[in-house]
Amino acid sequence: MFFRELNQGKCKTYLLACETTRKALLIDPIREKTDRYLAALAYFGHKLEYAVDTHTHADHRTGVFELKELTGARVVMHRRAPAPHVDLHVQDGQTIICGEMQLQVLATPGHTPDSMSLYCDGKVFTGDTLLIRGTGRTDFAGGDAGLQYDSITQKLFALSDDTLVYPAHDYRGNTQSRIGEEKRLNPRIADRSKIEYVELMAKLGLPLPTKIQEVLQPNQTALDDDRIAFPTVAELNQVRQLNPLEVQGLINSESPPLVLDVRESNEYSGELGHIHGSRLIPLKDLASRAGEFEAYKGKHVIVICRAGVRSTTAAAILTSLGFEQVSNLRGGMLEWNEHRLPVER
Ligand SMILES: [Fe+2]
Repeated sequence: MFFRELNQGKCKTYLLACETTRKALLIDPIREKTDRYLAALAYFGHKLEYAVDTHTHADHRTGVFELKELTGARVVMHRRAPAPHVDLHVQDGQTIICGEMQLQVLATPGHTPDSMSLYCDGKVFTGDTLLIRGTGRTDFAGGDAGLQYDSITQKLFALSDDTLVYPAHDYRGNTQSRIGEEKRLNPRIADRSKIEYVELMAKLGLPLPTKIQEVLQPNQTALDDDRIAFPTVAELNQVRQLNPLEVQGLINSESPPLVLDVRESNEYSGELGHIHGSRLIPLKDLASRAGEFEAYKGKHVIVICRAGVRSTTAAAILTSLGFEQVSNLRGGMLEWNEHRLPVER
């Protein structure tokens, strides 16, 4: 297997390629380095099959959508990833086949709900779940320290001790580690119980990443459009969140709300289906088409998407446009389906 880290910086992007078929895969490409990746692929004579993100990043714009557009590579993310335009959603235990390479998907939620690690040929790409002598933060974007502890100790530490560890970030100049080393020496995890870990992570008090607004929402929505003013973190936090059963109750009530689905049309008619009577207006068109449902300005509007992330953005946008009663379906159509509530396809 051909293997290279391409950024030589704090953010890591890994190029993996099958030596026989020359089919290649990039893990966690950064948008601003797209030219460099294309040059490396051309130089080594590789054909990009897959552009993979280990999770929705908050510290840099992802390069996967740009690479898809330029090379036809398929975008791969975990099933819980909120963004549209993902070609292959994967889940725990699944295998990504690229030429003669086989990458095993390990769902490792905690840093974000959609965090995954990939195991191939004695190497594990851990995203921001397990870092070298550290772990990814869990204090925003749906992070959960308890889940992360389980992901690390039960999934990653179940790999053999000599497995090489390649994280998505390193701030101290490290390039690789081994599972056995991290078990013994990782100061966040070694000799710490789950309760102690959760307490530690809650006390880190890290500042939010710079440019979080400019990065997180475009990555979550796959939108790159100057006409869309993304809401602030404070505005997003104010959005009222309803669980699927609450939404179902309101839909069946005597004065049902307007149910607005902000996904792309292929998702609306896709695998997860849509809610009967819901109206489709993709997020990118929401502000320009808000006039179509002006009549609902004083009434209840419930916004829906895949994972409940894009629709939270949509709800905050509608609130800023003067809609007085907007709620979000928490967990989106993923959670709606997990509750086995009715869908139309
Ligand atoms: Fe991250």
